[in-house]
Amino acid sequence: MPVKIAFIGFGGVGRALAEIIEEKRFRLREDYGLDAVVVGVSDVMKGAVYHPDGLDIPVLLKGLKDHGTVEAYPELAGVVKGWDSMEMIDHSHADVIVEVTYTNVETGEPALTHCRRALDQGKSVLTTNKGPVAHAYEELTRKAEEKGAFFGFEGTVMSGTPALRLPEQTLAGNTIHKIKGILNGTTNYILTEMERGLEYGEALKQAQGLGYAEADPTSDVEGYDVRYKLAILSSHVFGVALSPEDIPCTGITGVTASDIQEAEKAGEKWRLIGTLTLDGDRVTGIVKPERISAHEPLAGVSGALNAILYDCDMSGPIFMTGAGAGLKETGYALLIDLIHYHKQQSRIKV
Ligand code: HSE
Repeated sequence: MPVKIAFIGFGGVGRALAEIIEEKRFRLREDYGLDAVVVGVSDVMKGAVYHPDGLDIPVLLKGLKDHGTVEAYPELAGVVKGWDSMEMIDHSHADVIVEVTYTNVETGEPALTHCRRALDQGKSVLTTNKGPVAHAYEELTRKAEEKGAFFGFEGTVMSGTPALRLPEQTLAGNTIHKIKGILNGTTNYILTEMERGLEYGEALKQAQGLGYAEADPTSDVEGYDVRYKLAILSSHVFGVALSPEDIPCTGITGVTASDIQEAEKAGEKWRLIGTLTLDGDRVTGIVKPERISAHEPLAGVSGALNAILYDCDMSGPIFMTGAGAGLKETGYALLIDLIHYHKQQSRIKV
């Protein structure tokens, strides 16, 4: 049985997943028995199109590219156009809702409403939006469990670098006492460009030009983006809900070129580090710029890369570095979730 997918929001990340599904169609079928079809797309700017048997992805993407709307899709029997996101969630026969709308991370909306609506109907949800997961982890994962649905959000922390699945699956059985990470590419890019002599403002402009920064870079440079990611990690790895607002946070705007040069002379580097510490059944989090020895693994992380270090009782410190943003990388995070959804469903059916 094919897995039917509907996209709510169809910006760069959504399109990246559609392209990956098309590109890897043969491999997904051969390796995982996964046959994914895109039945619908609903986007406030780009319109909506739905067909219960599946849309032709290259035709859909070409129509969007040439005409700026998915409604350029050919008129065929069974094609529905113009549905808003709620109509797509309610009326489409999608098994999986891919929620990739442009969402306000502070409120989690509109993604939070979409996730609730889909999960309430027992539809599985994959999202790369941090807001709903950081604010309502417990509620959404419980809803998914109650309804036998799957809730995937790998891309919310470190995009396609599996920061959430690594501790859950590969490091299973360890007690993780501490997590430390460079979880924002924009600020790491700025700090490392400043090491090369650039002024803060110039480096920020470059990071924006390269597409790393959020639309409003305040969330990046003030460290708020890292707080959301720590909140997600705390719920997911430690099972302890931390409200992002309760995590003390200092960004990088106070780090000057002379601070960076002084550190350099002492064989040290400035990095914006997010830390979670488990103490009994309590977790504390903090985000702040730290001056660390150039020999520490986190100091060696340059440019827009992200990194994470899990302090485990049996395997010792485990360090992973990789992209923390990017359209293809974030689209790939959705693919990881889709494959896991499919594995879970196949087990249930067996
Ligand atoms: N603006 C974020 C960053 C993107 O710079 O890392 C991923 O959340």
